[in-house]
Amino acid sequence: MLGLQCSTSDEWLRSVNNDPASILRDHAHCEKKAATMAISLLNRYPEKIELVRRMAALAQEEMSHFQSVTEKMFERDITLTSDTGDYYAKQLHNHIRKQEPHRLLDTLIVSSLIEARSCERFQLLSNHADDMDLRQFYHSLLESEARHRTVFLSLARQYFPNELVQQRLDELEAIEANIILNLANSPAMHG
Ligand SMILES: [Fe+2]
Ligand SMILES: [Fe+2]
Repeated sequence: MLGLQCSTSDEWLRSVNNDPASILRDHAHCEKKAATMAISLLNRYPEKIELVRRMAALAQEEMSHFQSVTEKMFERDITLTSDTGDYYAKQLHNHIRKQEPHRLLDTLIVSSLIEARSCERFQLLSNHADDMDLRQFYHSLLESEARHRTVFLSLARQYFPNELVQQRLDELEAIEANIILNLANSPAMHG
């Protein structure tokens, strides 16, 4: 349903269950980066009405997720630490072509894949986190990440022919799976 070509390993889940503070810290930064990305997209394509509309709404929603995650942390006396970066997202971003209109197409597809992977991992956490409160918390965020994936894909289909979107989606899905299979399964949202 999420169009991902590989599933997250049990090892990732084990490492998250051993270190819930780290996943929350990293997750907060992911939400912040999702909001930043939405703002940078509407900045880059100001003439595209639907894109501006959707990205403005997305930036607000991602920042409200940031607030929910940080509140969940503060309840547990966990503070935010500096952003250590997201190797997975950086690797995927390296596959975005530099020339327009390819750059827009690739950015929308890569963003949809990152949302899909986050959704897959929220699903795992909502079913298997050792901490019942975290299960519920991740369950509450699931639906919006699945919807965000659709927002990016529908924008791609609005601005590009369907066959072109499908072809690039197939390529980038394969690349995404390969990146995931080579990750260290660290306690990070995309670790
Ligand atoms: Fe989010
Ligand atoms: Fe999202």
